[in-house]
Amino acid sequence: MPVMDGRELRIVGFLCNWCSYGGADTAGVARFDQPTDLRVVRLPCTGRMDPLFVVKALLSGADGVLVSGCHPRDCHYSEGNFYARRRLEVLKQFLPVTGIDPERFEYTWVSASEGQKWQEVVTKFTERIHLLGPSPAIADAAEKLKAANLG
Ligand code: FES
Repeated sequence: MPVMDGRELRIVGFLCNWCSYGGADTAGVARFDQPTDLRVVRLPCTGRMDPLFVVKALLSGADGVLVSGCHPRDCHYSEGNFYARRRLEVLKQFLPVTGIDPERFEYTWVSASEGQKWQEVVTKFTERIHLLGPSPAIADAAEKLKAANLG
């Protein structure tokens, strides 16, 4: 059931299988109300997260992208989320160069037992994207995707 007013937006969530996907599942099992805008892509670990996945989603029309994984030091592959954090911090600096508002991207850490936290994170991020509104068309998006070998 939608909990946000207005039109549903397109938000892509890249979630690690071991923690945040479990947290989203915990929130669902507990029947916490959540926005319906999020479409989940399940990853083995945020260490698998190529920052270009975010760029491709946003250039292709997503209104927002949320990445979520295990808390630092809880990664099931030891240090995948440390690599992810470094890459995603650089990505935040890089997004304006591509014409993308960096406010449309966020990353966070949610464990499998944190259903309540998941609800809060996804609700807060979705509210932020609703305040920004639908993503404006980005000039030369097709050329940029092609230049990054994503087209
Ligand atoms: Fe969850 Fe690495 S297994 S971030």
